[in-house]
Amino acid sequence: MAKRVVLAYSGGLDTSVAVRWMIEEWGVEVVCVLVNVGQDVDSSESFEDIRNRALVAGAIDCVLVDARDEMAEEFCGRAIFANARYEGKYPLVSALSRPVIVRHLVDQARKFNAQAVAHGCTGKGNDQVRFEVGTHALAPDLEVLAPARNWGMTRADSVDYAEKWHIPIGATKEKIYSIDENLWGRAIECGAMEDPWAAPPEEPYTLTRVTNKEPVELTISFAGGLPTALDGEAMSLADLIKALNARAGGTGFGRLDMVENRRVGIKSREVYECPAALAIIAAHADLEDLTLERDVHHEKARLETRWAELVYDGMWFSPLKEALDAFMADTQRHVTGDVRLRFEAPGLMRIVGRRSPKALYDYGLATYDAADTFRHADSEGYVKIYGLGVKTWAARQGAKNSKPLVP
Ligand code: ARG
Repeated sequence: MAKRVVLAYSGGLDTSVAVRWMIEEWGVEVVCVLVNVGQDVDSSESFEDIRNRALVAGAIDCVLVDARDEMAEEFCGRAIFANARYEGKYPLVSALSRPVIVRHLVDQARKFNAQAVAHGCTGKGNDQVRFEVGTHALAPDLEVLAPARNWGMTRADSVDYAEKWHIPIGATKEKIYSIDENLWGRAIECGAMEDPWAAPPEEPYTLTRVTNKEPVELTISFAGGLPTALDGEAMSLADLIKALNARAGGTGFGRLDMVENRRVGIKSREVYECPAALAIIAAHADLEDLTLERDVHHEKARLETRWAELVYDGMWFSPLKEALDAFMADTQRHVTGDVRLRFEAPGLMRIVGRRSPKALYDYGLATYDAADTFRHADSEGYVKIYGLGVKTWAARQGAKNSKPLVP
């Protein structure tokens, strides 16, 4: 009996060609799974068209899974807890969607009694790592196939291949950009962006074109670390992210242009647009400034870096990442309140206010006016003892020997 493979299918050129190629070269049966993680499935094309393309290419079935709420609540949610930004910048857009897709691939592989899953990634990126490590974490018995890593076809070859098999593809031989998108934002690579000195062209952006030149002020409300309402209107996290992408993105906010370190040792120039992700993380981190105890806050900042690296590196389903999740979740119990953000075109955002019923900010302690409740006299002995070690050092060895930077 032919081996059965469940393929992560996007409906695009590479994964459509992968269906036929695996059948021809490896003699397998292919089931396609299209996971909706909030990518803007081209509105001119229905799922029926995409499914039809998979079937023409030779798939025995094509399943659509709506994972938008799962993507928002579980994957973006945990990333919000961790203020997750790889290398201090990138909010893990693609890195968050891969484990969602993996989970559904494995699920469908079980339903269809498949022996393998497959993806359309090349050998140069992070996504292959995320698909493969993720699959092995959930299903050590399943094989993972990567046809695009084996076929050695250029894009033009793939277009010819699709034509030969009458697979209906809108793609042309010159494709300028490689774009990956989901609820959390869009990743844009290739074309002019491959020169890190060249300013990115305006053309591939869709979420961050300035459509509103007026300043926009928004309030995001959080409960237990998760956003629950926008300007007082309660909504699901998926809806809130969508609404915020439109409103913040319309002022041009949310672009990133960076050189990043891929897991596979390549430095690459990447351009992202992720207005909601960046606004939510900034607001969430600000609310933590108000509500987290100092030691918890400082330790959390160290672990956030590690969390983002693990997820970037394809370790969503791993014991360390899960242990860190437990820590992050524990810190979020009192991260409840509202944050006010002000957006000004093109692309500026400032946080202008925050409040919380759980705030550790104490007006009586902070104020310098008559309402002051702080006992100033207590500080005298405290500061003396705090600085005692340095004072002793200065007297015996220290300060008089320090050298100015510029002699
Ligand atoms: N460099 C980003 C990451 O590794 C984006 C990858 C985008 N993927 C793509 N197929 N264009 O998370």
